[in-house]
Amino acid sequence: MTDPFSPFRLGGLTLRNRIVKTAAFEGMCPRGDVSDALIEHHRTIAAGGVGMTTVAYCAVEPDGRTFRDQLHMRREVVPDLRRLTAAVHAEGAAASIQLGHCGAFSNNADLGRRRPMGPSRALNLVGALSGRVLADPMTADEIAETTRRFAAAAQVAREAGFDAVEVHLGHGYLLSQFLSPQTNRRRDRYGGSLSNRARFALEVVERVREALPPEIPVLCKVNLRDGFRGGLELEESVKVARWLEARGADALILSGGFVSKNPFYLFRGERPLKEMIAVEKELPLKLALLLFGPFVIRSFPFEPLYFLPLAREVRRAVRMPLVLLGGIKSRADLALAMREGFELVAMGRALVHDPALVAKYATGEFDDSGCIPCNRCVAEMDREGGVCCPLVKAQVDARAARVLRARRSGEVAQLVRAATNGGERDTTSTGERPSP
Ligand SMILES: Cc1cc2nc3c(=O)[nH]c(=O)nc-3n(C[C@H](O)[C@H](O)[C@H](O)COP(=O)(O)O)c2cc1C
Ligand code: SF4
Repeated sequence: MTDPFSPFRLGGLTLRNRIVKTAAFEGMCPRGDVSDALIEHHRTIAAGGVGMTTVAYCAVEPDGRTFRDQLHMRREVVPDLRRLTAAVHAEGAAASIQLGHCGAFSNNADLGRRRPMGPSRALNLVGALSGRVLADPMTADEIAETTRRFAAAAQVAREAGFDAVEVHLGHGYLLSQFLSPQTNRRRDRYGGSLSNRARFALEVVERVREALPPEIPVLCKVNLRDGFRGGLELEESVKVARWLEARGADALILSGGFVSKNPFYLFRGERPLKEMIAVEKELPLKLALLLFGPFVIRSFPFEPLYFLPLAREVRRAVRMPLVLLGGIKSRADLALAMREGFELVAMGRALVHDPALVAKYATGEFDDSGCIPCNRCVAEMDREGGVCCPLVKAQVDARAARVLRARRSGEVAQLVRAATNGGERDTTSTGERPSP
């Protein structure tokens, strides 16, 4: 049987083992910038033994952000991202970055366009209470421009020293909105049949592949199912997987779910409504969560390797490397994924709970993770200072210390600016939260 701790060659990249830290939004990019906290977060995960860590949900353009405080790819962030990739490499791991676009799912206070955009006219519930109620259908020119933005972002990722690039085709973001028959009601060459709905995603992957040298693998995070009636189903996603293989994708990460409709389909486990209400900063959204949350946010029971039954169908259909994801926590889970023929496994919450888990599994110190899956970390990613497992006191204390330090250095910077302005009031301060 394949050893999950054995090296694996993905395209031109050799990973020291077969375990990947999957993208889990860090909440550590205030105003879209890379913070020291983000660098330390990924350095710690790399030091904990994974083969590759993934920087989460980086938008390919400013309007592709769901939130204002989200990384978006641009030349200015290259030096800081270089510090991140260097820190990860120094710990012996590879670094990947997830590139995406929120499409019609936007609560970005700095939106440049009048409205978010997606495949078809849509309600944007996440932004509805702050005035971004509707999303506009994209024109063919906007589709072409966004495709270019993905390719340009991949080139920036390469400049920043990333070893791999992940394209987000799942979870109900832009490319997934195009793939899904429920959210794509277009009548042009980007809507209707599956091949039309998949056209945008396939063009993006092809352009990203072309933009990168062969030694940098392109991974695609895809939905096995959207998880609601009328959404993308397994039979279609198997075809999409074959097309992605033909277009040169190096690996698929198999996931599912749609953030605007069934967010906990992808996480599975408890629904942390109380914590989500507590961290919500916008009062109208807080109230909406309180009143409607219990009815509209469904929970889905946790099972180990919960996507395995669907993922097996993709395994039968393609020869390319596949990354099994979803509810993988224990050493036994890793072994089962290998037995089932998946080349790689990805873990999210188990590594948020304990970034050193892989090293502990490798030495035999541990056999199982202490992650329970309560999903409270899903709420914590919106708290100042970013994601942590609230069950681990050391993580909570470290975050609090970071926030305090950042506030103090923000205050010092304000004083310096005021002094260099001849003691005048500093009008450049936005009053927004400081960098953690
Ligand atoms: C706090 C948190 C943030 C997440 N953010 C992202 C994200 O930015 N992009 C993404 O594709 N998936 C995201 N996910 C989903 C994970 O990548 C993964 O699909 C999910 O947690 C299931 O894997 P697990 O059972 O190993 O945690 C997030 C998960 C968590 C817990
Ligand atoms: S909060 Fe901690 S224990 Fe709960 S799911 Fe997240 S990582 Fe696991």
